[in-house]
Amino acid sequence: MWLPCGCTSKYVASSFARRTLASYLHVSGRSRCNVAAFMPEAAGLEGVSGRAALRELSVSNSESFWAAVARHRLCWSTPFHTVQDCDLSRGKIKWFEGGKLNVSVNCLDRHVHTCPERVALIWERDERGSEMKYTYGELLEMTCRLGNLLRRHGVKRGDCVTIYMPTCPLAVASMLACARIGAAHNVVFAGFSADALAERIRDAQSSTVITVNQGVRGGKVTELKKTVDTAVQSCPTVKQVFVAMRTDNPVTMTARDIAMEEEMLKEDVVCEPAVMNSEDVLFLLYTSGSTGKPKGLVHTQAGYLLYAALTHRYVFSYHDGDVFGCVADIGWITGHSYVVYGPLANGATTVLFESTPIYPDPGRYWDMVERLKINQFYGAPTAIRLLLKYGDQWVNKYDRSTLKTLGSVGEPINTEAWEWYHRVVGDGRCPVVDTWWQTETGGICIAPRPSDPDAEIVPGMAMRPFFGINPVLMDTEGEVLTSNNTSGALCMAQPWPGMARTIHNDHQRFIDTYFQPYPGYFFTGDGAYRSEEGYYQITGRLDDVINVSGHRIGTAEIEDVVNQCPAVAESAVVGYTHSIKGQGVYAFVVLKKGIDVQEADLSRQLNGMVSEKIAKYASPDFIQFAKRLPKTRSGKIMRRVLRKVVESDLEGLGDLSTLDDPAAVQEIIQGHEKLL
Ligand code: PRX
Repeated sequence: MWLPCGCTSKYVASSFARRTLASYLHVSGRSRCNVAAFMPEAAGLEGVSGRAALRELSVSNSESFWAAVARHRLCWSTPFHTVQDCDLSRGKIKWFEGGKLNVSVNCLDRHVHTCPERVALIWERDERGSEMKYTYGELLEMTCRLGNLLRRHGVKRGDCVTIYMPTCPLAVASMLACARIGAAHNVVFAGFSADALAERIRDAQSSTVITVNQGVRGGKVTELKKTVDTAVQSCPTVKQVFVAMRTDNPVTMTARDIAMEEEMLKEDVVCEPAVMNSEDVLFLLYTSGSTGKPKGLVHTQAGYLLYAALTHRYVFSYHDGDVFGCVADIGWITGHSYVVYGPLANGATTVLFESTPIYPDPGRYWDMVERLKINQFYGAPTAIRLLLKYGDQWVNKYDRSTLKTLGSVGEPINTEAWEWYHRVVGDGRCPVVDTWWQTETGGICIAPRPSDPDAEIVPGMAMRPFFGINPVLMDTEGEVLTSNNTSGALCMAQPWPGMARTIHNDHQRFIDTYFQPYPGYFFTGDGAYRSEEGYYQITGRLDDVINVSGHRIGTAEIEDVVNQCPAVAESAVVGYTHSIKGQGVYAFVVLKKGIDVQEADLSRQLNGMVSEKIAKYASPDFIQFAKRLPKTRSGKIMRRVLRKVVESDLEGLGDLSTLDDPAAVQEIIQGHEKLL
């Protein structure tokens, strides 16, 4: 039987627990928070006498904290018996074992039970002013029909379904339908090329793909079904493709293709939820690392959902009845955690944004805020920087009085953009929360709130660790830096329920990437600065991953494509500071001997190859042809030097004594100056 949270006698909290936790965890205290079942094993949490103390306890006695939160926030069919079983040195992470639940029940049924007419989704379609609303009852019905359809077509518990769709209600229903029947999903960003999609389908071994006939974004139509057709040609595992209709234009259907909406109508509106173990896989999500091959990070059921829900509620000061507007695409982790799972687990109204910040004009976001009465707006600095350039009038035209919190994610937000977001968009009255996290962390780890809703927020700083998060900075020797006003490699000293569990089919890579560099710690790949006051500021990646318009891409992935060109001997790709995109892509290319081509033609060809093999956003902004690359005597390309050259920071070139041939650097500098 599915138990509504807090309804079993076993979970009735003591009145003490109810009182204390109500006052701490409910951020603003403006509305009532039901914490009746928050603390069944109250002993560990007793004596907490303030937000700071609760935060401290969430780290010092994290088991008690997470156990209490998990019992309260999630709806279990069988309670868990073990809160955590983790060993970071071995990359072993398990939470809430023994517990059984269904994620779709947590995101839908329990809200339908109490308020079926509440709006779950507002689909802000590309065509301005044509938004569509879906209640929790309707979303549950869609999910159940789709779950039944997938089951009827042989999708089983443990299978992995690839979803290649724009942000739309059927995409959300597809994710939840997978969760309902116990299949994992693998959402691939609809901007990825056929090759990139195929690589992810193959790695996930999907036999089922869900897509739409065409996508529509910024007034342009994209041929998503055709891209799937091309991709599946090199995916022997794919047996069936479900095709939903986003536009009225018919597409060629083959024997493998199934008209999704038509078939859904034939299905029952009730779909028995699979009873899942806490640690069963919920989804894979591919992301870039420092090698060429994207890694399929694995997130599991209970811990991920709990962490997404809790961070959604407290980082943004979400209150029941609020309209939450995260404009991320569902193809990224931000879309998973803060468009879909976090808000739906909390019974929120969540916005699905299908368009772009400047379509049909640069007032799009704020027009949407006014029309949909959005209370929390969560977006990326790259869009803020772009909109800032268009001027305040596009913001001031619209009523933004519903806004309460503004969020930023995915890349560092520079002070100018932060100030503008705060002063112009938020009228100086909405806190701006710069949230740091990753695909790997499942949810927000460092953000200004919620430790203290009245605490100061410093522009451009992620500030404070979330409940249960224990960040440390490491020096180059692998020692923990204990003082403040210091910079180092950002690691986490303790596990938390939302963290990824492994890399699909490659646990050793998971260990090598995240747990080997600093044994006993989770290494984030980012550097950070801790201020005198103990606040964190992210300083950027420490590996060969760059961040273009908030999209993470490994430079090695781009090099792999460039090197496939027959004219290219070798290449090196680095990021450089870009005023809108945050980082741009700069490629150094060495041609094979005797190759005689027009550089402009070859540049076009290389750009086309990168767009085709990865995605448009990965395409180099600059391609510099060079006779050779600066290398160490052992033959390693000195990327550090290349990064300094593209930033025109010649003072900062550093120690060049290990260079094989110092003249190579001079050539590179001259070539760079010519290109600008
Ligand atoms: O370098 C950090 C940067 O984005 C990386 C994670 O990318 P991804 O897994 O695609 O997830 C993006 C959305 C959570 C991080 O390693 N990053 C993310 N948020 C911030 C950030 N850099 C600076 N400030 C942030 N708030």
